[in-house]
Amino acid sequence: MNISYCLKPRSKRRLEPFKPDQPLPFGQLRTDHMFMMDFDGHEWYNVKIVPYCDINVAPGAIALHYGQAYFEGAKAFMHPDGEIYTFRLDKNAERANFSGEILCMPQVPIDVQIKAIHALIDVDRNWFPIQDGASLYIRPFMFGTSDSLGVHPSECYRYMCILSPSGPYYATGFTKPIRLLITQKFHRAVSGGTGAAKAAGNYAASLRAGQFAKKFGASQVLYLDAENRYIEEAGAMNHFHITKDGTVYIPEFTDTILKSITSISMIELLPKIGFKVIQKRIELNEFIEGIKKGEIVEAGGFGTAAVVSPVGEYVFEDGTILKVGNGDIGEMTKKIYKTYTNIQYGRAEAPEGWLKKVERIFQG
Ligand code: PLP
Ligand code: COI
Repeated sequence: MNISYCLKPRSKRRLEPFKPDQPLPFGQLRTDHMFMMDFDGHEWYNVKIVPYCDINVAPGAIALHYGQAYFEGAKAFMHPDGEIYTFRLDKNAERANFSGEILCMPQVPIDVQIKAIHALIDVDRNWFPIQDGASLYIRPFMFGTSDSLGVHPSECYRYMCILSPSGPYYATGFTKPIRLLITQKFHRAVSGGTGAAKAAGNYAASLRAGQFAKKFGASQVLYLDAENRYIEEAGAMNHFHITKDGTVYIPEFTDTILKSITSISMIELLPKIGFKVIQKRIELNEFIEGIKKGEIVEAGGFGTAAVVSPVGEYVFEDGTILKVGNGDIGEMTKKIYKTYTNIQYGRAEAPEGWLKKVERIFQG
């Protein structure tokens, strides 16, 4: 598939590398260009990289009414050699297609997704934030564009990708553990639904819970299964906890949990640095008991945007606080964070296939 380029005039494009002198927010900045292509019910066409701008969508577009849309979240890192590398983008591309299947949307070949995203990063490479801890956040997405009010899958779609030079997801970064709210009031997903997909609607449905959590000084809700028995997710992250013997527990990937690329990477990586990893359904009651007895000493969330976010305490709706360990960032979580980010930033050797260099193809 050939990509056509319609770029901002060179004089207006960023020519100097982007060197922010302020801490970078997450997801606010954009680069100069975006990738897009359309699906007409049979094939993808109109494949292009164009200046970042508003887009025309029919007011009756299926995505606007019935939420037939998904997105992905990946990152690219600049290595000491000055080159840009995407991290496990093939896994994001596979998951995009999985979401497409769940939402009755067309597939996009993995190689097409990777080629498109690498081409876009290449064009906007001077937007790469040269700042400690910063990265280029990659946001591919697809939505149904057919102008039709019947509830059925859209016939036509648009697939796009935008980029955001970003700092840490939580303003406090890795320096301050977050608090999660344990509540039975909200649920993220039910079996047979869309919980394992990165469906846009899952996030719309989570907004009310997020606002509720804020009332308790919590960053997010610790989502439980529909019967309030098992731990599922930590807001927009997979949840993990660590016992004092160095075992990392991650909830089993059921059809109500997003199969986090950070988690699957940890499952592969952590045994190599001395941790045992167990995936199973985690009973909330046992989890609480484990913390109270001092057997569970660290906890947190895994996710692309949030990387490794330590949880210092859980709060219940009656205001009771449950501290994990002494509430600070534990040594094991620190080791996990350091090992993982060293790989992402090219300071340590990555397992085969995890990083892919963005080649310099665009000559403009
Ligand atoms: N769970 C949810 C609900 C998410 O939104 C995310 C974020 O992408 C994750 C888990 C973490 O997944 P990943 O590590 O692939 O970013
Ligand atoms: C990610 O971690 O990439 C996410 O998609 C989380 C989010 C910002 C919704």
